[in-house]
Amino acid sequence: MAFLADSLARVKPSATIAVTNKARELKAAGKDVIGLGAGEPDFDTPDHIKAAAKAAIDAGETKYTAVDGMPELKAAICEKFARENGLTYTPSQITVSTGGKQVLYNALMATMNPGDEVLIPAPYWVSYPDMVLLAGGEPVAIDTSIDTDFKITPELLDAAITPKTKWLIFNSPSNPSGAGYTREELKGLTDVLMKHPHVWVMTDDMYEHIVYPPFEFATPAQVEPGLYDRTLTCNGVSKAYAMTGWRIGYAGGPEALIKAMGKIQSQSTSNPCSISQHAALAALTGPQDYIAESRVAFQRRRDLVVSMLNQATGLKCPTPEGAFYVYPDLSALIGKTAPSGKVIETDEDFANELLEVEGVAVVFGAAFGASPCFRVSYATSDKTLEEACSRIQRFCGSLK
Ligand SMILES: Cc1ncc(COP(=O)(O)O)c(C=O)c1O
Repeated sequence: MAFLADSLARVKPSATIAVTNKARELKAAGKDVIGLGAGEPDFDTPDHIKAAAKAAIDAGETKYTAVDGMPELKAAICEKFARENGLTYTPSQITVSTGGKQVLYNALMATMNPGDEVLIPAPYWVSYPDMVLLAGGEPVAIDTSIDTDFKITPELLDAAITPKTKWLIFNSPSNPSGAGYTREELKGLTDVLMKHPHVWVMTDDMYEHIVYPPFEFATPAQVEPGLYDRTLTCNGVSKAYAMTGWRIGYAGGPEALIKAMGKIQSQSTSNPCSISQHAALAALTGPQDYIAESRVAFQRRRDLVVSMLNQATGLKCPTPEGAFYVYPDLSALIGKTAPSGKVIETDEDFANELLEVEGVAVVFGAAFGASPCFRVSYATSDKTLEEACSRIQRFCGSLK
């Protein structure tokens, strides 16, 4: 009898963590390494949010709370959905978990039966397919390319739906491409979904607030109210308020689904950290200045990185609408030889050689299901980004 669960064999370790570890090892060995792998804002959590957490500790808010979120936080989330997304939810339609990650995981655990298919546009956030596998379902990638700026089209979506499709996981702006769907593009997709009433939508709106004008964020149930009864609208404070370590995510959706997700949480982790819930309450109800300030910095960095990478020999880098990632295509460099004699056959070869030669850590595209590409996170200082992009230019120019 095997000791470890068979389901684990279906899941692979996170490639983004592997890259981070390798960069850390090289750094420890004294190499000058620039890490462009981070999946979190480089800014500090705003002071008023930290103050709310300290006040919560002093007030003794250090006990269990309701399993899927304190009533006052749920009320604030309802207000947020109404104010920012035009969506009406009641507190019984809201769940709060330990990060956006647990929200998605609970939803999959609550709904997957063997054979159920989950559509995942590629490139995708690394955790989606593995979470589906852990929950016993079948991830089905919808491939895209740079030709559609890494977005799916209504035709691609329609062709991927089968009688076994249970969910579409939708993520705009996207990790890793930064691509954001306009309201019109989204309407094209929701029109297809309206023809297939058995397909539900799990929309991961984590990067809602990191978007650059003139792009405006929209979410599926807002664009097509007819989808409201089969949409789980997922969000969180991690990226919007530089709160990745606090671990608070939330979702609004049909009450029966929310209840089922709460059941899983009640038998696994119980409530998310009480202090973090108070911090999230302050984030959602307090001053929103941080969002606009960080957006200006991120947009400046996006423009810098896109411009410098497009000047690198053989790279094509679309200008993303949001998040803090770019996803350049390196097709023109496949088959070229590095000065070390190494032939670049895959995007993983490219990323490994770039790290060895120039000390720049990026994540290769195969990890996100779309090759040959790589992901750059620009959640770091302008100066560091300039240096990193100069090194990438030099490396690309050295390939023959
Ligand atoms: C697209 C996407 N969804 C969800 C998450 C998870 O967020 P959290 O840190 O709140 O669990 C991330 C984090 O990297 C992400 O990029």
